[in-house]
Amino acid sequence: MRNDIREVLLDREQIAARVGELAAEISRDYAGRNPLLVSVLKGAVYFLTDLSRAVEVPLEIDFMAITSYGSARAQSGVVRLIKDLDVEVTGRDVLLVEDIIDTGLTAGYLVRLLHARSPSTLRICTLLDRPYRRILETLEISYRGFEIPDRFVVGYGLDYRGQYRHLPFIGVLKDEILREDAPAPEA
Ligand code: IMP
Ligand code: MG
Repeated sequence: MRNDIREVLLDREQIAARVGELAAEISRDYAGRNPLLVSVLKGAVYFLTDLSRAVEVPLEIDFMAITSYGSARAQSGVVRLIKDLDVEVTGRDVLLVEDIIDTGLTAGYLVRLLHARSPSTLRICTLLDRPYRRILETLEISYRGFEIPDRFVVGYGLDYRGQYRHLPFIGVLKDEILREDAPAPEA
């Protein structure tokens, strides 16, 4: 597992420290309110659970699940909702908690979907921002953990073909692992 990683970009201490800072900002900004933290399964779950534990205002969490067509590297931006929220969004202070914003198409889709339900406020918090392939230039990010270089990363919730999410750090996969065009392994 660890052998598949070429380089650790962010270790667990760096992540924890930054998550604490973001939580402090959110606690200040949402003082006296009761935000609804909304995340998308599964990538953002690790971030959401750590972040929410460090936020000091009362809050709720809820989840959506989506499928994106196309591979992880060739983002199509075509998204289908496969699990909706359980909680009503109307009149709530909604904070969309994302793992990474790349093209911005996924977050853009979610913002449109949530906005249509008339939240009182709607903001985006992302752990990672990789701006190089951004298509949706107008996306406003209120809370940003780290800006990362133009590399595909795994760990702390981020996966490659379903693997590596549970790594406690964020790292770059070795090129020989990251072969999008490689034929599917025999079953
Ligand atoms: P976007 O729609 O292009 O902004 O992509 C956002 C989604 O693509 C994220 O929520 C991730 O699921 C996935 N993604 C983008 N970049 C990476 C990466 O470097 N590693 C793992 N997943 C990624
Ligand atoms: Mg994802």
